[in-house]
Amino acid sequence: MSDKPKYYLTTPIYYTNGLPHIGHTYSTIVCDTIRRYKRMRGYDVVMTTGTDEHGVNVERAAKKAGVAESEFVAKMAVEWKALWDDLGIPSDEFIRTTDLKHAHTVQWLFRLCRENGFVYPGHYTGQYCIYDNAYVDVKPGENCPDCGRPTETVTEANYFFKLSAFQKPLLDWYAKHPDFIQPDSRRNEILSFVEGGLRDLSITRTSIRWGIPVPGEEPHVFYVWFDALTAYLSAVGGPNYEKLGFWPADVHIVGKDIIRFHTVYWPAFLMAAGLPLPKQVWAHGWFLMDAAKMSKSKGNVVTPRPIVGVLGMDALRYYLLRETVFGQDGNFSYDALVQRYNSDLANGLGNLASRTAAMIEKNGDGKIPKPAALQPQDTALATQAQAVIGEVLELYDSLTFSRVLEEMWSLIAATDKYLTSEHPWSLGDSDSDQQRRATILWTTAEVLRIATALTHPILPESATKVWSLLGQSGQPGSIALDRLKWGELAPGTPLGKSQALFPRIEKAEAIERMEAMENEPQKPVTAPAVAPAAVGAAAPQAAPEKIGIEDFAKVEMRVGQIKTAERIVGADKLLKLTVDIGTEVRQICAGIAQYYEPEKLIGRKVAVVVNLAPRKLRGVESNGMIIAASVGPEGRPVLAGFPDDDVEIGARLK
Ligand code: MSP
Repeated sequence: MSDKPKYYLTTPIYYTNGLPHIGHTYSTIVCDTIRRYKRMRGYDVVMTTGTDEHGVNVERAAKKAGVAESEFVAKMAVEWKALWDDLGIPSDEFIRTTDLKHAHTVQWLFRLCRENGFVYPGHYTGQYCIYDNAYVDVKPGENCPDCGRPTETVTEANYFFKLSAFQKPLLDWYAKHPDFIQPDSRRNEILSFVEGGLRDLSITRTSIRWGIPVPGEEPHVFYVWFDALTAYLSAVGGPNYEKLGFWPADVHIVGKDIIRFHTVYWPAFLMAAGLPLPKQVWAHGWFLMDAAKMSKSKGNVVTPRPIVGVLGMDALRYYLLRETVFGQDGNFSYDALVQRYNSDLANGLGNLASRTAAMIEKNGDGKIPKPAALQPQDTALATQAQAVIGEVLELYDSLTFSRVLEEMWSLIAATDKYLTSEHPWSLGDSDSDQQRRATILWTTAEVLRIATALTHPILPESATKVWSLLGQSGQPGSIALDRLKWGELAPGTPLGKSQALFPRIEKAEAIERMEAMENEPQKPVTAPAVAPAAVGAAAPQAAPEKIGIEDFAKVEMRVGQIKTAERIVGADKLLKLTVDIGTEVRQICAGIAQYYEPEKLIGRKVAVVVNLAPRKLRGVESNGMIIAASVGPEGRPVLAGFPDDDVEIGARLK
């Protein structure tokens, strides 16, 4: 058994009636970041995630799919787990509420609550929201106050939990543990809710079949929240939790919509059973799309695979954690995502790493140089980097991820400025110039080493690449952050192999590709699809993979003639075209609106990919693709065309 201090954290367990979107991914990325950080601070960490598989929603979804519930949830659980694995954020424990060990833990918790006198039988009639799996305080015919969807009147025999008995114990607990609910705004919300009085809660159902049976009380099954919350305990030993030593949890990371379940019901169940309470519940905000919570029912979801496919996982992690203050809502936008990618990752960290490596290569033997006498500007940068270490650790401790990244990026900006003002590239070959250049390059490389270690919890893939580029052994994830300090980069260390970091990408093209993938059926994640740019000067660029003629032959391109062209409201880059391809007239969207007047396109002959699967761009169906060159840093589209008039419409391009 490890003698390191233990740290246990959890994501919510996700409903299996839908597939993961950016909102869910955010919860899991946050937990993964904390997990990596805590490991680097010397903890033995367990992170749990899983799937919440019972309840009427699943019952209905399985019926609609024409399969048994168990089959339905098994498939969905595989999808969820595969997504986390593909994204490089697998949990240490993946708990399914259909696991046997979980059922035993729920039944055990119920028994303890009952033996201690907090459970009694009764009847309940109320308005039930099947989407949120909760009774809500509205009249028949009214919609759910939380999600706005219709409620149903339900009357059933059930067992009640004496939640009312826990008003005072809960208020005492919150008073004694001021950090139990975070952020403070949520804490205030919960305090006033509990101060307003608590009603007993029905914790079993007879109206539902698909649930964990209440032992000896069939047809009662457990209410999904009594069932789901207990998963946190089942994952780390259930009734034998003391043996593993991970309970109580250090933090439950949840979305703000489920804070009440975690800070009122869950601690009350545990108090009733005489079990230890989690130390903290942290509620993050929502990612919104067009000012509304992303949700499948509204059809405004963005999923992670297309983003990861085009920009890479670190770009998504960076954007989600940088763009919003942890705890507040954030608006998701592809535009801002690609903007951040290009400005902060490609031009910021990526550029600094590749420039530094290139200069060290050029300096001579491709080894970390030995610094000579320090000048005040070197010491100033060293002092800033050393101070950033302490500040960033504190910011991680308070889960202020956006500030962590701000601090890191101001260090990167200061280093860029330092390089510009010291311009090592213009120093000559004299001994003193060589020594000065060595000092500047060592200082810059040392900033990169520190930055890599500190950003690893958020940007694990790129940190690992920069780490090995600097010739450092092992993984940055195994660095002890407590011992990280300025000045330990060993001169003479040979640089490692160059690695693809953040190749710049033209915004319109990136967005178009992500949107197109979003409209396709989901596929497993592979490495970023953008052409890799090498980091480091000496290393050769990876040769692009060659395809055979049979692969090329799969793409059917034909000459088409544009018949109509119009702008699309709300999509300033897209034009909606109708194009005659000889055999039919197709509707095709093209990202050329900023460079071509629609009227001037009529009659123009263009090259069209005609056998591309139809997809929707900004909600408009596009059935094919017009070929254009991407010119200059902005990627200005220039249509491929046929100046000779005698090219007939529909002719195949070979
Ligand atoms: N199954 C329950 C949780 C039980 S935990 C014992 C549940 N599942 S959920 O799949 O609907 O949501 C899981 C988490 O995803 C919640 O924390 C929720 O807040 C979060 N998100 C879902 N949509 C979201 C956004 N659009 N933005 C950020 N997070 C949101 O609730």
